[in-house]
Amino acid sequence: MFSKKTIEDIDLDNKVVLVRVDFNVPLKDGKVMDAYRIKQALPTIRYIQEHGASKIILISHLGRPEGRVDLKYSLKPIAPVLQRLLGTKVYFASDCIGKPVDQLLNKLNKNEIVLCENLRFHPEEEKDSADFAKALTKPADVFVQDGFGVVHRAHASTEAVTKFLPSVAGLLLRKEVDTITDVMGNPKKPLMAIIGGAKIADKLDLIKRFIEIADIVAIGGAMGNTFVSAEGVYIGSSLADKDDLPLAKDIIRMAKEESAKRAFIFALPRDGVVASNLEPNAKTRIVDWSAHVVAEIENYPKRTPESSLKVAKDEKILDVGPFSGSFIAGCMQLANTVVWNGTLGVTETPPLIGSTGPFAHGTELVIDALLGQFGHRPFSLIGGGDTVGYIENQGLVDQFNHVSTGGGASLELMAGRKLPGVEALEDK
Ligand code: 3PG
Repeated sequence: MFSKKTIEDIDLDNKVVLVRVDFNVPLKDGKVMDAYRIKQALPTIRYIQEHGASKIILISHLGRPEGRVDLKYSLKPIAPVLQRLLGTKVYFASDCIGKPVDQLLNKLNKNEIVLCENLRFHPEEEKDSADFAKALTKPADVFVQDGFGVVHRAHASTEAVTKFLPSVAGLLLRKEVDTITDVMGNPKKPLMAIIGGAKIADKLDLIKRFIEIADIVAIGGAMGNTFVSAEGVYIGSSLADKDDLPLAKDIIRMAKEESAKRAFIFALPRDGVVASNLEPNAKTRIVDWSAHVVAEIENYPKRTPESSLKVAKDEKILDVGPFSGSFIAGCMQLANTVVWNGTLGVTETPPLIGSTGPFAHGTELVIDALLGQFGHRPFSLIGGGDTVGYIENQGLVDQFNHVSTGGGASLELMAGRKLPGVEALEDK
């Protein structure tokens, strides 16, 4: 159970409330491409409005502007999106401290909002500066932390800020921490983890934790290539991380030891969809380097040529193949809880024909299985920017049990680490 005070534990009447949100959303040509994080902040903002707060100041970072003003990381495009979603006036302040905020606050009516410019335009933010935190808190009476995606960072707006105001959690932060902690500590078994994405090093602790606590761990995405390469399979021009090879070998060894002790499955891709480029019109084929099922069926009654079993020099593995995808979906029929972080293939390439991109079939199989298309519907916990962005774009985000707004934060929490931005809040 969440042990910190939340907005439900304090009096908000007539207070100026400073809320840290995570509006680090993808922008393209000044337009918000994925509003999931903004939508998830709405219950907290509405609660504060409904409980008598006089004014609300929202602060967030966006991207990594490296401590200087760079308008491509401006939060300005978010103000009209938030205003539309909330149905309340949202003013945009050109800075997050000083006059630009004060002037707007003077003209605010009850329940109206000031959204401040990017915190990270100030180098002091990432340095956890007390002076900067003091300036942030100056106009406010209470601080609310609701930026789950950033509480794994000890920054001025997550840690130092709590030294100057009564500091409590928002509803999103509580929901994220409670759900993720519960799934990791007390999952309905069997527990399955599906882990994709690029770098093994980024998810090393997570993979290790799942090898300890899960019944099935399946790997895909670009990190799948590194694992496959660590097993001695030739992967052509596939994206893989040579530096991560020793880590991959260690993990494979660890997983084998675990499988020897108990019923535990560690599933690496055994076939893949390959192409020489990522374009929508790329010619694709299936290479069946270890399952040999698809290759043998496709070639029967002729002997399977080596090309069906081997990635060519100029080819890249861009998705798991049908055998591996079906194996994962089959395992999901046995699981009562599935934690999914990272797509199984390249989901950015749009389809030229049909509804699924050429390298998104493995990912689609996981989605179908999570939604109960094959009969069984496990509890689903989904995280990771690319995965969440994909299901948000498909309009499916409400269909799962919990879709986390956190990338790094959810990984750290799942791996069992303390989050500085949560630790700093008042205890219940
Ligand atoms: C995220 O997108 O994971 C959060 O907004 C944190 O961003 P950061 O990794 O740049 O600190």
